Amino acid sequence: MSERIYQRCIQPDCAGTLAVDDTRFLCPRCGGLVDVAYEWSRLPVPPSLRFFEQRWAERQDPLSCSGVWRFRELLPFAEPRWIMTIGEGQTILQQADGLCGYVNMNRGRLYLQYEGLNPSGSFKDNGMTAAFTHARMVGARRAACASTGNTSASLAVFCSATGLMRAIIFIGSGKIAYGKLAQALDHGALTIQIAGDFDDAMQRVQQVSQQLGIYLVNSINPFRLEGQKSIMYRVLEGLRWEVPDWVIVPGGNLGNVSAFGKAFFELQQLGLISRLPRLAVINAAGANTLYQLYEEQGIRWRAGAWPRQQVQEFFQQLQAQHRRASTIASAIEINQPVNLPKALRALEWCDGVVREVTDQEILDAKAQVGVHGLGCEPASAASVAGLKRLRQEGVISKDERVVCVLTGHQLKDPTATVAYHSTDPQMFEEVLGKRGVRRPTFANRSVQVPNDLGEIIKAIELYA
Ligand code: F0G
Repeated sequence: MSERIYQRCIQPDCAGTLAVDDTRFLCPRCGGLVDVAYEWSRLPVPPSLRFFEQRWAERQDPLSCSGVWRFRELLPFAEPRWIMTIGEGQTILQQADGLCGYVNMNRGRLYLQYEGLNPSGSFKDNGMTAAFTHARMVGARRAACASTGNTSASLAVFCSATGLMRAIIFIGSGKIAYGKLAQALDHGALTIQIAGDFDDAMQRVQQVSQQLGIYLVNSINPFRLEGQKSIMYRVLEGLRWEVPDWVIVPGGNLGNVSAFGKAFFELQQLGLISRLPRLAVINAAGANTLYQLYEEQGIRWRAGAWPRQQVQEFFQQLQAQHRRASTIASAIEINQPVNLPKALRALEWCDGVVREVTDQEILDAKAQVGVHGLGCEPASAASVAGLKRLRQEGVISKDERVVCVLTGHQLKDPTATVAYHSTDPQMFEEVLGKRGVRRPTFANRSVQVPNDLGEIIKAIELYA
């Protein structure tokens, strides 16, 4: 199997390789990011995407039930006997006509891919099942990640559900929403809160994993991204194998955009789709590295000849000025995304754009998503807020077919939601006011009434 499947440096001018079972996940020649690479001509590739529809009839088989592994021919790095699934990826593409007014789109053209329905409540399970499978192939006993909360929740759930490995998670102290911290603790992960933020935790976890030989499940691990490709396979499935015009995704550590780009690029190479969608990545304004580099400094992948020096200088400047990421969308509160080069490559493949949105725009969009039936966490709503901007700018037209990815569940971060709707000015100020959120445009205030039947009935008649 191994010569058909390996890991390869993403730099075309380097092309250093690692064996499939190597867990260094960085190019041995240049230290850059690696892809999982396949010799497709020597692997069984289905003749068309419709091939996967037969898996719906085999749902008693856990591998065909999984929303990731029912597409296993498109991520064929593991023999089926190694695959670890907990039923991830049972997520659906939903037509979102109710939201069309808010973003000024024509009805029937907007879809939401709701990844909050995963076992741990976020898209991370798509990647974790793949990383976990790889970890099992190489015999790992301990797995670690740095996290803003969802990767760690996913790792904790996979470890506790399978009993295969011990979870060790690094989080920035105070930088994690309660729903996510609750998951790590409840599922028995060793939870290490370090005095710092995600970017600090990410550096430390790489050092620690290397020193102690612990398996790393952050998205620098290319097997994670193989699993996340399946989010786009399900989008295509939801559109009866038609390619949308746009896919919009929040950007944090930039694993998703990298995975989505690879998914579409490979499908086109395999002749399974005939064109690529455009990608839009949405940063929070308080954590906007990709936006600054791509849109303001004009940095491009250029077939691998991207200006590394300029990017390095950008990061040096961030450090020198002690600039820290800061946004209510804590999931994407990241200034040093590890997948930056892969994201630039995906943006080149898919003719991408990047935008930033404020915390106010994020929370208003989140409230609109909620009022129309789906619950998401703040970071997820960045995709809808980004769409609204791109519509205002005319970059996306009313009639294009658009998919926004909702990455995580509403219950991940109840504090942000309650503060937005709260009647308590102190709570609002503490959680949101200090981040520049002025007016919760769609606040749904609770009604305070005395414990009196007459007063309660009066309130109901008044408001409903
Ligand atoms: N949305 C949610 C809900 C997330 O948890 C994350 C990332 C993103 C979007 C950004 O995705 O990193 O692929 O660009 N959360 C990571 C974590 C960093 O640790 O849970 P990305």
